[in-house]
This record gives sequence, structure tokens and C-alpha cells, in this order.
Amino acid sequence: MHIIFLNPQGNFDQKDSHLTEHADFGGQLVYVKEISKALVEQFPDLKVDIVTRRFKGDGWSSEFEKEISYYPGVSCRLRIVRIPCGNDSFLRKELLWQHIPEWTDNIIRFYRNQLPDYATAHYGDGGYAAVLLKKKTGIPFTFTGHSLGAQKLDKLYKKEPDFNKLDKWYHFSKRIQAERLSLQYADIIITSTDMERYKQYSHPLYHDVVDVEMAEKFAVISPGVNTSLFNQIVDEKDSALFRRIEKKWGETKKPGIILSSRLDDKKNHISAVRAYAESKELQQKASLGIFIRGMKNPYEEVGKLPDKERIILQSIIDEINRYHLREKVFFLDLTSQKELAGAYKYFALKHSVFVLTAFYEPFGLAPIEAGACGLVPVTTKNGGPSDIFKNDMGILIDPADTEDIARGITKALENYEEYADKVIRLVKEKYTWAKTAEGYYRVISNTPGNSTEKEFDLPELDAKELILKYLKSL
Ligand code: F6P
Repeated sequence: MHIIFLNPQGNFDQKDSHLTEHADFGGQLVYVKEISKALVEQFPDLKVDIVTRRFKGDGWSSEFEKEISYYPGVSCRLRIVRIPCGNDSFLRKELLWQHIPEWTDNIIRFYRNQLPDYATAHYGDGGYAAVLLKKKTGIPFTFTGHSLGAQKLDKLYKKEPDFNKLDKWYHFSKRIQAERLSLQYADIIITSTDMERYKQYSHPLYHDVVDVEMAEKFAVISPGVNTSLFNQIVDEKDSALFRRIEKKWGETKKPGIILSSRLDDKKNHISAVRAYAESKELQQKASLGIFIRGMKNPYEEVGKLPDKERIILQSIIDEINRYHLREKVFFLDLTSQKELAGAYKYFALKHSVFVLTAFYEPFGLAPIEAGACGLVPVTTKNGGPSDIFKNDMGILIDPADTEDIARGITKALENYEEYADKVIRLVKEKYTWAKTAEGYYRVISNTPGNSTEKEFDLPELDAKELILKYLKSL
């Protein structure tokens, strides 16, 4: 069987060169890569291609220009296939929509007479490509939304009630229509949690195209943790990183309160920083550690960041200065997933906690990755984490309430052993990529798809009218 993973945004390379540096290079890429790897490792009859967009330009890894590459140490039954569309340069995901039909045609051209058997589509753009591919070739597909436009629109609309302004940057009219088509024509919709299925997909902007009660249309498959990286084993590279951390920050005895999300509004770093700044008790008990990729000295380099990230980091710095916290806060520049895991291990030895105060987190892979290394997760109660950490397996907080955040962190610090043990067990039992890949394999093998279903007409990629009607109804 030959499976393709359609993921036009972001891009993939052997070294994950730009992971977390850009909003389009985040958890979704890790997800697609790890499942693809685990699939070829576990199923010797499978060929898997991660199909993404080809581009080149200053600052990007030159690997992104190649048509095909392979992950070192992984079977060559897994390939990264880069298909061009639009122009040669990198395009942020919001600008890809108009090029997806061309991308899809180029995919068909690339495979010519040897079309793959099955597609898994990721995010609305991958989904839209899968719909077009199904229409032209009959290839069945699963759709994994990762994050849906309707929920993002709801949040942004509270701050910016001019939809046209939002649409200009985010292209919700296109995105939401692409998601609607993906949901309608997918053979199976894959969600990470039950909550994602029932809460996110029942949004009024989708409910005429998908029925969340239709059991045969949904599969709930949890993502996993790459336990070959995120574990508690300290190797030589980790020890070297430990020395680097101590050289920079001195041999700190205190636990750390660790924030390691990318600088994005929705991750809401500022509430965690404020919770720390407002609590003398927390400052006595622990230091605040903020991991930011690509910044050796954020105080001096903040000005170099793109606008959106600069504003977030500047507000963190302002808060640190306002409360005179420079001595208590440290920034770490980590360049790879391996280093990230190493830093987690270092702070686990100091009985530290990992904090995620996102307003909403669709799943919550980062807290379980940190948990697998021995940090205690203190996470937003909005979204996937409330499922993962239910029954007191981790600590949930209200991201809008700094007192509640401080309460959660204090509880985690005071009960470190108990929660660290629980989360390590939880990851081993439920959240490995091998288990996720098995889930995908099961779904794909049991849902052959219906090739006659390719006879359908597609509307224009524009849901503006529907969206305006919905916004009016609020
Ligand atoms: O990989 C980046 C990611 O984590 C993806 O899941 C998705 O592309 C994005 O962040 C979140 O999407 P959005 O903010 O557009 O809803």
C-alpha cells in the first residue's frame, strides 16, 4: 500500500531546520513526520510519502528546493516529496489557497500512472488538495484538521469586529470553505480527542456538512510523544547541553517554571509571566525559564523579530523589567527537538514544571513531551489538555486567571514526585507515535473509500456569505 500525507504548508527537511521558528513550522509537522516514520517502521508493506510544497530563498534550508529527500536512519520507504506551486518563494499558509489546485495537478503529474492508494490530509489546505485529488482520481482520504478556522475566527473576532480586516490577512473565507469541503468529502475525519470531535466540529460553520454524531465518519486517534527523544535517559549530548546551560545561568539549585511555546498570541505567554511576577512565593520557590529558538540574548535581539513575535516578546520583557525580575528569569536558545528534550531533562532533575497557558490548545503535545522527560505539566483547561490530564493526571489551570495559574504551579512544585510519576506512566501507556501510527493504519485499512464518489461538483472556495451570516447571528 502507498499512502501520501498531504501537507502543503510548512515543509519538511532532514534536520527540522526551521521547526518552531515560524507559525507554519510547528506541532503539525512533528505530527506528520512522526506518524509517517512509525508507519514505515511498523508495517513493512507500506510506502509513505510526505507531500509538501517546494520553495527556495534566503535563509531557508536549501533542502527545501529538492524534489525528493529521505530521513537519515529511516527506511527509504518514507520519502519527502516536494511539489511546486505558485512561485518559488516561501508563502505563509494563509496565502496558499489559490495555489492548491495547481499543487494538486502537479501531484497527479508527479505520480502519473502510479497513483497512491490513500491520502491523509492535514489542515484545511491539505484537506482541500485531498478533495480535488479525490475528484480527479478517486483516491480516498482521511482528514486531520489540526486547528479549525471557525474557532480561530471566533477568538479573533472578539478583538477585531471588522471581518474584512481579518479576512484580508487570514483568508477565513477560503479556509473555512476548504475545511467544509474537507469535512464533507473525507472518508474519515481524524481527531485527537473526543472533545475535539464534539466541540470543534459541531461549530455552526460546519454543521451542515458534518454530523459529529456519525460514528462511522470519525476516528479518535491520540498523537504520541517521540520517546526516543523525549525520555529520561541522559546521553552525552544532553550532558554537554547541561554544561552549556550551567555555564550560562550558573548552577541553579531552584526548580524552573518552563515556558517553551513559540511566540504566538494564542499561546498567551504573558499570563504565565504575570502569574510569576505577581507571586513572591513563586519567585522564592523557582526561576522562570523561557525557551525561544534563535535568540541568544532576547533583551538585545528582540528588535530583529517579525512584528507579531516582537510585540509578544517585548511585552514579556516589559513585564520582567517592571517587576525587576531579570535575575530570576532566564532565556534559553535551543536549536533542535533533541536540545529541547535535553533541556527538559536538565530541569526535570531540578523538579521543575512545564507551563502552557494557551487560551485554547487543540491537543497538547508539548506538555506530554515535557512530561515524558520528567517535568510536571501545568496546562490550560481549554481544549485537549483537559482530556489528556483528566482524573488528576496533570494540573489544569484557567489561562485567563493569573491567580489560578500561580495556584497550579505551586501545586505542581509542591507535589512534584507524585505528578511526575503519573505523567511518565501516562505517556508510556497511551501516547506513543507507534500507537498513533497503528490507529492510522487501522483506519486506512478498514475504510477502503468509495471511488465512485468522485462524481461531485465543487463550489467556489469562498464561504464569505455564510460567515457574515453567522457573525451577524452572534
Ligand atoms: O504547525 C503549525 C501549527 O501547529 C499547525 O497545527 C497549524 O498550521 C497551526 O499551527 C495552527 O493553525 P491556525 O493558527 O492557523 O489555526
